[in-house]
Amino acid sequence: MTMNKSEIIAYLNGQDDIGLFAEADRVRRSVFGDEIFLRGIIEYSNYCRQNCFYCGLRSGNREAVRYRLTREEIFESVEIAVAQNIPTIVLQGGEDPHYSADWIAGLIKEIVGKYDLAITLSLGEQGPEVLRMWREAGANRYLLRIETWDKENYHKLRPGRRWENRLDCLKVLRELDYEVGSGIMVGLPGENVESLAEAILGLTSLDLDMIGIGPFLAHPQTPLRDEPNGAIQLTLRTLALVRILNPYANMPSTSAMECASRGARIAGLRAGMNVIMPSITPERVKRLYNIYPGKNADSDDSEHSLNAVMEIIREAGYRRSFSKGISPNILRRHESEMTLSK
Ligand code: 5AD
Ligand code: SF4
Repeated sequence: MTMNKSEIIAYLNGQDDIGLFAEADRVRRSVFGDEIFLRGIIEYSNYCRQNCFYCGLRSGNREAVRYRLTREEIFESVEIAVAQNIPTIVLQGGEDPHYSADWIAGLIKEIVGKYDLAITLSLGEQGPEVLRMWREAGANRYLLRIETWDKENYHKLRPGRRWENRLDCLKVLRELDYEVGSGIMVGLPGENVESLAEAILGLTSLDLDMIGIGPFLAHPQTPLRDEPNGAIQLTLRTLALVRILNPYANMPSTSAMECASRGARIAGLRAGMNVIMPSITPERVKRLYNIYPGKNADSDDSEHSLNAVMEIIREAGYRRSFSKGISPNILRRHESEMTLSK
């Protein structure tokens, strides 16, 4: 299905929420049925050399209490995923130079050597050689949000970083045959429905395998502390529109939704999302992974947070899947490449 910018803007302004969410759910059911994929996130370091204006982990936040997990601690989390039959893990961290690219490659090899898990990386912008090394070590997927489609705003909010480089990095990931994920925040300061419509069309043009979108939430220890949060209803409309335009992408109902408003993760599933990503970071540190206020605050322990996630899936009227949930998009791409080379 295609939609032009003015049609998208009309939906973003609330033209027909009931019709929009019903269509998004119909599209997700036509591809994924009623299954929800789980991804266990291991947040292994909250040190970051970047200084993004919106993020609680920014290097300029001197109040943040920092931690790094050891190899053994990371394996504790990996084993939680294995014990709970969660077939995909996401290694996520700030851009922390303490862990060398070789060390990460060694970790990936060790995990895939021991366990049958799909490995997703969410380790920020990296050069092509590093991304190749991690792919060869056994990583399957990579998440790198473009954050906003508004280049000028990107340059304001991510000092020293170039929007074009981020896009190039996504291209490299595609060339290396990762399943590629990107996404944005909804409601960043300086943005409106017009820029959001452009972001929706822009993300769609990337033909992504995974798309992660959540509301911007103002963090008290950042320069954006006094800005309003992204609105939840606008975020839900964005999710539904992106789902309709990207039927084959894996799309999470993010924890930022839940932090913005209780019950919003259920609403996200009903608006066409098919993935949930519970944190399986060790208890002792998980609350310190404070990207935005409330992140990881609701979960007493991994089992509790997993039970909560199961409850959300049941309540929304879907079923938990035990599959790795490879994106149907990459399967389609491989098939068409095979046909072309015949
Ligand atoms: N509010 C919501 N999401 C945020 N992120 C970073 N800071 C915030 C915030 N204040 C998101 C970014 C990043 C992801 C890991 O978390 O999109 O890519
Ligand atoms: Fe670092 Fe990512 Fe936060 Fe930016 S958004 S400061 S890169 S952890």
